[in-house]
Amino acid sequence: MRVASALLTALTAFSAYYVYTPLPSTVSEPWKLMLLDATFRCAQDLSNLAHYIGFSHHLRVLNFISGYFDKLDPFSSGHLKVTDTVFDGVEVRIFEPMKEPYETLKRSIIYIHGGGWALGGARMRSYDSLCRKISEDVNAVVVSIEYRLVPDVHFPTPVYDVLSASKYFMRPEVLEKYSVDPDRIAISGDSAGGNLAAVVCQQLAEDPNVTTKVKLQALIYPVLQLLDFNTPSYQQNTDMPILSRFVMIKFWLDYLNGSHAYAHALLVNNHTSLDVREAGSLRERLNWNSLLPLAFKKDYKPVLQSTGTPNIIQAIPALLDIRASPLIAQKETLQLLPKTYILTCEHDVLRDDGSMYARRLQEAGIDVTHDHYEDGFHGCMIFATWPTYFSIGARTRDAYIKWLNENL
Ligand SMILES: *[C@@H]1O[C@H](CO)[C@@H](O)[C@H](O)[C@H]1NC(C)=O
Ligand SMILES: *[C@@H]1O[C@H](CO)[C@@H](O)[C@H](O)[C@H]1NC(C)=O
Ligand SMILES: *[C@@H]1O[C@H](CO)[C@@H](O)[C@H](O)[C@H]1NC(C)=O
Repeated sequence: MRVASALLTALTAFSAYYVYTPLPSTVSEPWKLMLLDATFRCAQDLSNLAHYIGFSHHLRVLNFISGYFDKLDPFSSGHLKVTDTVFDGVEVRIFEPMKEPYETLKRSIIYIHGGGWALGGARMRSYDSLCRKISEDVNAVVVSIEYRLVPDVHFPTPVYDVLSASKYFMRPEVLEKYSVDPDRIAISGDSAGGNLAAVVCQQLAEDPNVTTKVKLQALIYPVLQLLDFNTPSYQQNTDMPILSRFVMIKFWLDYLNGSHAYAHALLVNNHTSLDVREAGSLRERLNWNSLLPLAFKKDYKPVLQSTGTPNIIQAIPALLDIRASPLIAQKETLQLLPKTYILTCEHDVLRDDGSMYARRLQEAGIDVTHDHYEDGFHGCMIFATWPTYFSIGARTRDAYIKWLNENL
C-alpha cells in the first residue's frame, strides 16, 4: 500500500512537473497545448540523456522518436497521384491532382517542411497530409522537398538542397512533364522551412540563369534572423510551448555547426554587441524599434550590449550570413521578391521575425499579406488533424490555402 501510494505520488509529481506550464489564457486550447508540449519535452529530455551517455546525437534520437513510426510510403488516393522521386540528387515527394476537368496547365507549390532544420520530413504524416490538402484544394502540383537534415549535414547544405531541387523543377522540360504553368509557381514553408523558402526565393531572384520567375512566396511563422534573441516576441514568449527561446537557440547552433557553449552568449546578444564591428551595418536592418508596431513592442526594451563576445563571429562566421538570416538582406534584393504571404502567431518567439520581414518587404515595395493570429502558437498549422487537432491549426491552414488559391 505504502509503495503504491509513494509511486502514485511520484508519478503525479512527475506528470505535474512535465505537464503543468503556466500559459496565457489567450492561447488556443491551453490544456491540450500543455499535453503536447509535455510530450515534446519528454522526448527532448530522453534525447539529451541518450546524447549525454554517448548513445547517439540528440537530434538523431529526437528525430527517431518523433518521426520513425510516422513515415508514410507514397500512396495515391482519391484524385491524387503521389510519388517519391529525385530532383538533381535531392529526394522529393510529388502530389499531382488527377481531377477532371484537366486544365491544360496546373499551378504549383514547392513546399519546404519545418522542424528546426533537424526534424520533420516530406514523408511524415503531418506534412504528407498538409501537402495532400494543399494539392487537392488548390488543384495544384505540390513538390515537397526532403532536404537532408542536421546533424548529417549543416548550413548551408539544406539551402543548396532546396535550391537544387527547386531549380531542377523549374526547368522548362520538367515543368512540361508535370503539366505545370511556369508563370504560376509558389515557394512556401513553415518555421525552419519558412527560413529556407525565404532564402531560396532571394537566391533565385538574384540568379540571372533562372529564367522562370516565382510568382508567390508564403512563409508560415518563419525563422528569419539570429542577430537578436531579445526582440519583444523572444522576451514575451521565452518559455512558450512548443518552441522556447533556448531550444530555438540550440536549433540555430546545431544548424550552423556551432558549439552549445555559445548558447548563453547568444541569449544576451553578446554576438551582436557594439564591439562586434562586423555586425554594425547589419544591425541597422533589424532595428525593431522602427520595424515593429507599437502593440508588439509594449514596454519591452532592446538588449544591445556595448561589450560582448566578438570571437563568436570568428568561431561561427555563418552568424552574419544572409543565407541564414534572410531578414537582413539588402533592400535591392528585397525589391526583386515576389508577392508575399506571412503568417505569424502571438504566442511565438518568432512572431517578430515574420512581422519585421513583412514590414521590410512592404518598404521595398512588395505586396505583402500579413496574417496575425492572436491565439496562435508556434507550429500550430501542422496540428490540424487527429490526434493532435487544434482549431487554430485548422484555421491557419485553411486561411493559408485560401490565400494560395486566390493569388497563385
Ligand atoms: C550561370 O551559368 C554560368 C554558365 O553555366 C555559370 O558560370 C554561372 O556561375 C552561373 N551563375 C549563377 C549565379 O549560378
Ligand atoms: C562541424 O564542427 C566539427 C567540430 O568543430 C568539425 O569537426 C566538423 O568538420 C564540422 N562540420 C562541418 C560540416 O563543417
Ligand atoms: C557577454 O560579454 C561580456 C563582455 O565580454 C562578458 O563579461 C559576459 O560574461 C558575456 N556573457 C555571456 C553570457 O557570455
